[in-house]
Amino acid sequence: MKDYRTSHQSERITRQYEEKIYGQGSYDDFLWMWEKGVLTKEVDDLSQDVSDLAYLDFACGTGRIIAYLEEYMERSVGVDIAKEMLGVAERKIKTSKLICADLTKQNVTTEKFDLITAFRFFLNAQPELREESMRVLGSMLRNKNSLLIFNMHGNLWNYRMLTKIWYAIGGRRLNVASLRSGRRLARNHGLEVVRWYGFGLIPKTFYRFFGSRAMFVLDTFLSRIPGTRYISYDLVFVCRQKN
Ligand SMILES: C[S@@+](CC[C@H](N)C(=O)[O-])C[C@H]1O[C@@H](n2cnc3c(N)ncnc32)[C@H](O)[C@@H]1O
Repeated sequence: MKDYRTSHQSERITRQYEEKIYGQGSYDDFLWMWEKGVLTKEVDDLSQDVSDLAYLDFACGTGRIIAYLEEYMERSVGVDIAKEMLGVAERKIKTSKLICADLTKQNVTTEKFDLITAFRFFLNAQPELREESMRVLGSMLRNKNSLLIFNMHGNLWNYRMLTKIWYAIGGRRLNVASLRSGRRLARNHGLEVVRWYGFGLIPKTFYRFFGSRAMFVLDTFLSRIPGTRYISYDLVFVCRQKN
């Protein structure tokens, strides 16, 4: 398995991330609409208990999450190892500070945070990097009210299982996650998952063939049926330090 640290250190990958993966109307663009709803709710709730939020977006990439959340924060910091990705983030943010560093190796701040996000990172990071990052992020939470929110965009227990089998037949590897692996990752580092969300029952290809907007409306409807989050593609975990 390649070191995930180098995965986005390229202008080509950065362009692809912005223009294809998050191009307007793409599957991930619609998924982001749902994730925004989850983040807004969590930040609203957190703001009831904590004022002047200090926020860290780990592996902030092109600034998708931090550019959206910064307006709710007193201070916000984005950290990423890829200067190419940060170049795009720079153009989106207004008040945040961006740092190019590997948080698992460099101690770039002694500050503690009320909210930390880590999106689209843990699914594809190799096990050592995943564990090391979670350890460091857990240690950067301010106190027991503080939240770490991360996602895993590849739940095994849905259509992705078929994709995984298909990949395996072709001799290729596809990373997968699950509710269990997300919980275990948090638990390994003294954190507990206090809430979790799931979205995405309809396969990505359907979005392409039948129209993204219609499929998103249908996915939104399906996500309201109790229990469907267990078999959803994108899992979002909200964690706190364990008592
Ligand atoms: C798929 S991108 C996700 C970007 C952003 N969080 C989002 O959801 O749009 C993953 C990012 O993790 C970054 N990354 C990988 N290893 C890292 C590390 N050790 N420290 C900081 N960033 C890292 C990569 O450079 C890349 O920008």
